[in-house]
Amino acid sequence: MSERIFIGVAWPYANSPLHLGQIAGAYLPPDIFARYHRTKGNDVLMVSGSDQHGTPITIKADQEGKKPEQIATQYHHQFLDSWQKLGISFDLFTTTSTANHTEVAQNIFLTLLDKGYLYKASVAQAFCYHCQRFLPDRYVEGTCPYCGFIGARGDQCDECGKPLNAAELVDPYCRICGTPPQFNDSEHFFLRLSAFREQLLAWVRGQTHWRPNVLNFTMSYLEGGLKDRAITRDIEWGIPVPLDGFKGKCLYVWFEAVIGYLSASKEWAKSGGDEEKWRSFWQSEVKSYYFIGKDNIPFHTIIWPAMLMGYGDLNLPYDVPANEYLTIEGRKLSSSRNWAVWLPDYLSRYAPDPLRYLLSINMPETGDTDFSWREFVRRNNDELVATYGNLVHRVLTFVYKNFDGCVPRHSKYDDIHEYLDNFGKDMSADYLNKITDDLSLNLLESAKKLFFVKVDDNISQCHFRQAIMWAMRLAQATNRYLEEKSPWKVIKEDRQAAADSLYVALCLISLLKTVLYPFLPFSSQKLHELLGFEGSVEEDGWRLHSPSPGQRLLPPEPLFSKLDEGLVEEETNRLGLPDS
Ligand code: MF3
Ligand code: ZN
Repeated sequence: MSERIFIGVAWPYANSPLHLGQIAGAYLPPDIFARYHRTKGNDVLMVSGSDQHGTPITIKADQEGKKPEQIATQYHHQFLDSWQKLGISFDLFTTTSTANHTEVAQNIFLTLLDKGYLYKASVAQAFCYHCQRFLPDRYVEGTCPYCGFIGARGDQCDECGKPLNAAELVDPYCRICGTPPQFNDSEHFFLRLSAFREQLLAWVRGQTHWRPNVLNFTMSYLEGGLKDRAITRDIEWGIPVPLDGFKGKCLYVWFEAVIGYLSASKEWAKSGGDEEKWRSFWQSEVKSYYFIGKDNIPFHTIIWPAMLMGYGDLNLPYDVPANEYLTIEGRKLSSSRNWAVWLPDYLSRYAPDPLRYLLSINMPETGDTDFSWREFVRRNNDELVATYGNLVHRVLTFVYKNFDGCVPRHSKYDDIHEYLDNFGKDMSADYLNKITDDLSLNLLESAKKLFFVKVDDNISQCHFRQAIMWAMRLAQATNRYLEEKSPWKVIKEDRQAAADSLYVALCLISLLKTVLYPFLPFSSQKLHELLGFEGSVEEDGWRLHSPSPGQRLLPPEPLFSKLDEGLVEEETNRLGLPDS
């Protein structure tokens, strides 16, 4: 029976190019997950968009002497281009600047207000006398009241991850001039988070399938008590508070951005011609996943769920598989110091799949992991090219040359065909022994386990790193099989024996293109075509599609190319300075 899967992906601020830390943390994982579920025939909706409001955008606009909307539009287009080149397959990637989003966000605000979950109160807003201006939260820095970290931002502490208000900081100072700001009162709306504490605790306690880091962070946050939070700000650039008498006040970017998951679903439904279709992903039996980096955890496990509980009648998250961080060449990534690898740069020089491969097999799921150019070259050359690409190329060129460019016929084709058609099912060993030799049988049977148990279980639990490791084991096992069978030698004496082992190898290669498809969509699709299949891997389904004897192959081409060691130095030289 097909399942319904909603995939919400963190909305990147449209104020800078994307870097590899974001890709490994929040963008590649949902794409793997979405492609897997689509191939299985499940109903997937994957949405996100540019986060275009808030001070991150206005700071950048000020720096460049541009308007916030110019900055936001410029980066939004760049994001779209990057998604296309890297193959991140959103069903919709929109922005928070649409009329639809404004309408949905204001509606949620008004509904929460109506239900008594918002209230007005005065809040201290930072004013810098030296700079003669109000300071948005991000312009104030100081010591975190929770963990004592020096240099916490007024919106969030980067050390302990807690969201903050500038007024909560100990020893605050203005980020522009360094002097302590004054705090003046201003009237704002607060979200009554404290009212949801019990409900949230009960809900979170039931989420035993969450990753330990996500669960622990959320529990300790809830146990420490929940403070109500101001959800409006004195800013011009944002969604206006939809009430008279609040001119110059906008919804706080975090309150508004998370609503994007819902507004994007509505936009997707409208553009598909069935306005009500969003309901099938929000108000029926669905598993909702939110893919984010670890700095976004509280917004997705506490604040957004509280807003959903308050609004009512919408699905809560099922899982929030937040990733840890990616370091670059062993040092903490710093975008301001350019100690980062920028995705558009990468994509202007290299193919997408080698990066997808490295970030998958090295994904920061349970702890930080490191990206280095040396590792990039090594994994590409020793694993993608040597283990997988060469296997495919060797088999395809040999078959192409010796069997008139067509898939050869196995000597027991009728039996093996029946077996392959029922690949997902268990069959008696006796039956299996009749149809083929031990070596082939062992390979096929272990491939079956690997495909339907190891990879399946791991991907569906969002353990992508384990999943791709298992998939690569299939390529290794096929290489060993071919070494033993040596069809290249055997063909001189026994053409049919060579045909038999090559046929089995072709089946395995066909399985590899499916199992690797969520991770390496470009090379999988190419292999699908080289094998002589039509349509797309995704439409073909999560199964072993065995090639038919006589099926015409395309002239073989390598799937991957070897990278030159020299690029390691060249690329490392492009990096700026690490964080001190
Ligand atoms: N723009 C935020 C960031 O880059 C993430 C927003 S996720 C959302 O950290 F759900 F709130 F949209
Ligand atoms: Zn802190």
